[in-house]
Amino acid sequence: MSNSIRRRKIALIGAGQIGGTLALLCGQRNLGDVVLFDVVEGMPQGKALDLSHLAPVFGLDFKVTGTNNIADIAGADVCVVTSGLPRKPGMSRDDLVKTNAEIIKKVAAGIKEHAPGAFVIVITNPLDAMVHLMQKETGFPTSHVVGMAGVLDTARYQAFLAEELNVSVSSVSAFVLGGHGDDMVPVRSYTTCNGIPVGNLIKSERLDAIEKRVRGAGGEVVALLKTGSAFYSPAASAIQMVESYLFDQRRVLAAAASLKGEYGLKDLYIGVPVIIGKGGVEKVVEIELTESEKKALNESAGRVRELLAII
Ligand code: APR
Repeated sequence: MSNSIRRRKIALIGAGQIGGTLALLCGQRNLGDVVLFDVVEGMPQGKALDLSHLAPVFGLDFKVTGTNNIADIAGADVCVVTSGLPRKPGMSRDDLVKTNAEIIKKVAAGIKEHAPGAFVIVITNPLDAMVHLMQKETGFPTSHVVGMAGVLDTARYQAFLAEELNVSVSSVSAFVLGGHGDDMVPVRSYTTCNGIPVGNLIKSERLDAIEKRVRGAGGEVVALLKTGSAFYSPAASAIQMVESYLFDQRRVLAAAASLKGEYGLKDLYIGVPVIIGKGGVEKVVEIELTESEKKALNESAGRVRELLAII
C-alpha cells in the first residue's frame, strides 16, 4: 500500500544571515524539513548541524540539512532565495545588479531543474529586478514567483506608527506599495488604526516624517550594523508568505508581483497587494489610489525598469 503522506520541504537558497534565520523560523513554526544551500563550503552544513541540536531543546521534529549541492533541493515545495552579495563600499547600485543577476541566473537554473513545482520567494536585492529575472529564467508561472519586500516595508510602517500612537502593533493596518527602494510608496489613504484613518490621528507633517523613515529604514539598519543588512524582519516577512501558501491562508499581503495591466503597468514586478494561497499569487488586488500615490507608483515603476535595462 502506498503512503501518500509526505513531509513538506523548504529549500533555502543562500544560507547567510537571512537564510539561517529562515531555517530557525521554519523549525520553530513546524513548517517542514529544511535544506540550506550555499556556495560557501561547510557553512550551510555547520548551521544545519547547530540547528539540529536546537531541535531537542524545543522538541521540534524537523530535519535540517546543509549542502553545497543544488540537487539536494529536489522536490522542494517552497524555495526562498537570498543568495547574493550585499552592496560593498565603492560598489555602485548598477554593479550590484549585474553581480546579483549572475547569481540569480545560476540559482534559477538549479531551481528549474530540481524543484520545478516550487513556489519561489525572492529576497535578494535589488528585489524587483531580481524577482523579474528569476521568473524569466525559470519560466515558472508568474503565480509561483514572487518577491518579498512589501510585507517588510509594511511591517516597518506599522512599527513606527504603533510607536507614534503608543498602541499595539496589531491595531495598525498599513500598506506600502511600489519598488523596494527609497521610492517605495506608503499608502496613507489605506492605513488605519483599527479602521480610523491615520491622517485623523497624526498630523500630516509628522506622517511625512514617519513615511520618510519607512523609506530609509533598511538603510538605517545598515548604518547601525555596518557589516550587513537587516535579517530578522526580512526572514519573518518571508515566513508569513510561506505560511499563507503552504496553509492556503489566502492572506492579503503586499508583495512584488508580476503585473499584467493592473495599476496601468505591464510585464513588470512591483509591490502591490496580492492574495497568496495554495495556487501561489492567486490575485493582484487593485485598489483606488490618490493622484499623488499613482504618480509615486509610476515613478517607482520607472526606476525598476531602469534596473531591468541594466541586466
Ligand atoms: N548560490 C547560493 N548562495 C550564494 C551564491 C550562489 N550562487 N552566491 C552567493 N551566495 C550566498 C553567500 O555565500 C551568502 O552566504 O548568499 C548568501 C547571502 O547571505 P548574506 O551575505 O548573509 O546576506 P543576507 O543578509 O542573508 O541577505 C541576502 O537579501 O535582503 C537581501 O540585500 C540583501 O541581497 C541580500 C540578500
